[in-house]
Amino acid sequence: MAVPILDDYNFRNKRVLVRVDFNVPLDEDGDITNDKRLRAAIPTVRFLLDNGAQQVILMSHLGRPNGEVVEKLRVNKVAERFSELIGQDVAKTDDCVDIDMPYGKIVLLENLRFHKEEKSKDDWERQEFAKTLADYADYYVNDAFGTCHRRHASVYDITKYLPSCAGRLVEKELKIIGNALAAPQRPFIAIMGGAKVSEKLGAIKHLLDKVDKLLLGGAMVFTFFKAMGKETGKSIVEDDMLNLAKELIDTSGGKIILPVDIVAAEKADAESNSDVFSIDKMPEDWTGFDIGPETINTFKNILKDAKTIVWNGPMGMFEIERFAVGTNEIANAMAECSGITIIGGGDSAAAVEKLGIEDRITHISTGGAAALELFEGNKLIAVQALQKNYLKFNQPV
Ligand code: 3PG
Repeated sequence: MAVPILDDYNFRNKRVLVRVDFNVPLDEDGDITNDKRLRAAIPTVRFLLDNGAQQVILMSHLGRPNGEVVEKLRVNKVAERFSELIGQDVAKTDDCVDIDMPYGKIVLLENLRFHKEEKSKDDWERQEFAKTLADYADYYVNDAFGTCHRRHASVYDITKYLPSCAGRLVEKELKIIGNALAAPQRPFIAIMGGAKVSEKLGAIKHLLDKVDKLLLGGAMVFTFFKAMGKETGKSIVEDDMLNLAKELIDTSGGKIILPVDIVAAEKADAESNSDVFSIDKMPEDWTGFDIGPETINTFKNILKDAKTIVWNGPMGMFEIERFAVGTNEIANAMAECSGITIIGGGDSAAAVEKLGIEDRITHISTGGAAALELFEGNKLIAVQALQKNYLKFNQPV
């Protein structure tokens, strides 16, 4: 069933409550270090204002304050920055409930997670909270892609009380990722990295059915190597995943491509001895931290002819510069590819942003965990709620 979108409703003279994902990274002083999620909300807010909405009321979470007021997680700086970006005043409230709604075209409510009801496991508590929020408006728009995998009041329960639809960001994320997975142009290559097989298992299994090749990097490869009987030194290995890793290799029909060499070091720091080893020559007291140069070449050769690439997870401990080479090279190979390139948010997105090559990637998701759910072939619970809502409130223009 299609997901209802902004074009399905008439917002003229209506108050519209928009759930955005303004959960932005902050430095120690509480300053925003990356405003990508704020910029991503602009098309929806612009659409609503251009189409005569009386008021746009934005709401978001910021961090994980666990149902209490945490001063440094107030959304004041978010409101200021969003106001600069959209070029209009944004009135910010001191709470998200028990407030007099300010005048003004754009309002930002205080952090939703200052109230435990937002994330409560109790349906009734969440629904009562959602009803309070719903009372502010005539329509509800979900543009918080990064939170669409959560059963929270402001993305899930609220759809029971107002005619609802997806905003432009949610629409775009679902369309680009959905199309790439449903009808990929081939060769279709997936790259999966990160520390643990267990965290990526669902995506690996689902993607293996669809892709032509699946390139694996990151510390998770050592679980595969151990399953193949190789020395893994002091690298991270998930012993309870060994049988599954072996089974994946045996049944992948040669689609899984593992590294052939590894950058290992004595310690996870910038100074200790490090070297490149073939995966058959890993020293027993060293730890693997990145893919090696021969692997990078092999991966780049596969990627250069790809028509669709999806990527989730770094190739090594990229936070330390000398172990970031594999991750950076994969990012560059994505940028050089003329096909459709999709990055599933999180650490891989951070690597691309650090290199300043975002503009050369087809799509960088704003939601790491939500995008991973789609890579796993799962539906997003908040998107399903929008679909159900449309059947209930169906009021096309
Ligand atoms: C995110 O940053 O992934 C989203 O904003 C969701 O945040 P959460 O993991 O705290 O629910």
